[in-house]
Amino acid sequence: MSILRSGPLRAAADFRLRLRLCFNLWLGLALPATAEAASSPATSGTGGMVVSDSALATEAGIEILRAGGDAADAAVATALVLGVVQNFASGLGGGGFALVFRQTDSRAYALDFREVAPAAASATMFQDSAGLVIAGASTRGPRAVGVPGELAGLFFLHHRHGKLPWAQVVAPALRLARDGFVCPPLLATRLERHLADLKLNPALAVDFLTATGTPHPSGTVIKRRALAGTLQEIARTGADSFYRGALADRIAAAMSNEGGLVTRADLEGYKVIERPTVSISYHGRTVHSMPPPSSGGAVLLQVLRVLEALPLTSYGLSSVAYLHRLAEALKHAFADRAAVMGDPAFTEVPVARLVSDATVDKVRGHFRAYATGSRADYGAGFTLPLDSGTSHVSVIDADGDAISLTTTVNTTWGSGWVAGQTGLLMNNQMDDFVAKPGVPNAFGLIGTAANAIAPFKRPLSSMSPTLVVRDGKIEVVIGASGGPTIITATLQVLIDVLDFELDPRAAVEAQRIHHQWVPEVLTLEPEFAPTLVDALRDRGHTTRTDLRFSAVQVLVVGRDGRLRGAADPSKQGTAAALRP
Ligand code: GLY
Repeated sequence: MSILRSGPLRAAADFRLRLRLCFNLWLGLALPATAEAASSPATSGTGGMVVSDSALATEAGIEILRAGGDAADAAVATALVLGVVQNFASGLGGGGFALVFRQTDSRAYALDFREVAPAAASATMFQDSAGLVIAGASTRGPRAVGVPGELAGLFFLHHRHGKLPWAQVVAPALRLARDGFVCPPLLATRLERHLADLKLNPALAVDFLTATGTPHPSGTVIKRRALAGTLQEIARTGADSFYRGALADRIAAAMSNEGGLVTRADLEGYKVIERPTVSISYHGRTVHSMPPPSSGGAVLLQVLRVLEALPLTSYGLSSVAYLHRLAEALKHAFADRAAVMGDPAFTEVPVARLVSDATVDKVRGHFRAYATGSRADYGAGFTLPLDSGTSHVSVIDADGDAISLTTTVNTTWGSGWVAGQTGLLMNNQMDDFVAKPGVPNAFGLIGTAANAIAPFKRPLSSMSPTLVVRDGKIEVVIGASGGPTIITATLQVLIDVLDFELDPRAAVEAQRIHHQWVPEVLTLEPEFAPTLVDALRDRGHTTRTDLRFSAVQVLVVGRDGRLRGAADPSKQGTAAALRP
């Protein structure tokens, strides 16, 4: 592991089946707000704040801030705890992105610790001899695993910006893994839903199932003994053992024994990449978001720019005029995502053009107030060859430094594969590549050669850690989980806060829509008025009502310096602030 510091359809029936699987997957990823709403009230303070989708993780971040740690220390501690108590959505076997803001020079930059395809990966590795994509090959088991980057990224964050000793930052996660934690209701539901998979995997079963093979119910104590041993070693060795020492040997041996592709050399070659953010100005602020290999920033910012000139507040928050235009802008941006986005080390991604005046004007010029178009009408002139396993943390400290950090194992419980006796649940991020052009992945996303599998390449992501800076200071720290709905959910909560001036809690509770161009379906959360849904159908949208599948974690700094934050009610996280 080293740290790099340079910037830079198959038949229709099959397609429908796959779409259905995608939507089922989404349903498995996130639960109805009504069934699981146990969120805390938005909290306020001025001495620093942590928002995450786990109360235990938020507590760990606050513990670290209280001990004198800064935003980086708190974000790292929070993420490490997520990997223990919410491992279905985050963990050291995964990867992520962070946006870092330093008040001293008002500078924001992006940190890319995304998984990388192993050296032995190939463009057709998930296809059979007839060129058909093999169901499940890119999502289950060791071949679905990309070289994990999370530990390298967290270690970088701490090494560069942290104030407390590394072992102190690892301590809350180690303590919870070793001594146990009370199973939160959200984890209990994920255990019940994935019981069959957990039973097949002794390394997960030993931690998460009782002696009789039933899932640990909410309220019982869970210990992660093997993971505790691994965290102990990480507390002592930083990222060294995992990428070039004993842990690397154990991961590589388990991979080799069970048919995986990740080798010790892959681990040793892993690089964290520091990148410039993709940034725009929006109503007098600067909005920074994640550049490629995430599609999140470019899609989010293109849509924001398209909407900026429109009178959104006079349309109204849940108005057909606003939601129709939002859906249209999303269809254009997601069409561009599919056409041209991938790892910038392998494909030229025209980020500047994606958010340029010319593109924005072209998209706006295409808007028809009373109609939507067909799939071929979208994309801003690019040639088109034709709550998930993710978790977000928003942190700010008393000095105004901020971290927006999204980590992922991809789909719920990642690959479902644990590396030997390390307790490390590995990601299935290889599914974020295009297994074959035009064939949708687990999230229903399609793409082109720009996001084909290649050795050492990073799969295209939707993770969108985002920061809003006003007058040189942080105004909003935001991000989300939920596959491609990460982008649409982050975007809508951001608009709700900045344009509609909603309180963070009202913003995360407001009903949301989702459109990703393909499938050609506008998804609406259930509480939109039937008359509004009918009005959108009249404009030609095929609509679908679905439960919430995204979870946004947001904090807002008021003009008076007061911090207000909210964890999305779709998960059971909390926002907590320190009082001065
Ligand atoms: N694995 C989800 C994403 O990166 O978009």
